[in-house]
Amino acid sequence: MRRISIFVSVVLFCSVGLIAQDELASYQGMMKAAAGANGPMRKAVADKDAAAVKANAEKMASAMDDIAKFWAGKHNADAQKFAETARDAAKAVAGGDDSALAKIGPTCQGCHAITRAGNDFKK
Ligand code: HEC
Repeated sequence: MRRISIFVSVVLFCSVGLIAQDELASYQGMMKAAAGANGPMRKAVADKDAAAVKANAEKMASAMDDIAKFWAGKHNADAQKFAETARDAAKAVAGGDDSALAKIGPTCQGCHAITRAGNDFKK
């Protein structure tokens, strides 16, 4: 009996670990998409290259939408709000409102402050 329960605990422990790994990998994919669009979007705004602004801001908006859904699923309303703010600002930038760019940076820092420990999820 005791052996069985140890076995069950080990299996449970490992599967929880696996889910966390999967989640982390998929989260990092979304975060990389957002972060990867950030630089080119800002450069395109500076260069007044409207087509590149639109393309990169839309990439950012779509990644932030995925990120908002991720945090909604985790019931982390503060992180969800940061991602939604970034998504809406990126949509405005895509629509030609350059001033919305200023709203994106604070969401990066604000969300990292509450969700990250160094480069890892806060436990
Ligand atoms: C809603 C919350 C949230 C927002 C908004 C956010 N981040 Fe993140 N970011 C995270 C979390 C959580 C991690 C850590 C993931 C992990 O544990 O690897 C992270 C990781 C990163 C990483 C490291 C990715 C890697 O290679 O592992 C970069 C780069 C990054 N963010 C850039 C940005 C930039 C740029 C912005 C704004 C445009 C931004 N983030 C906005 C939550 C957020």
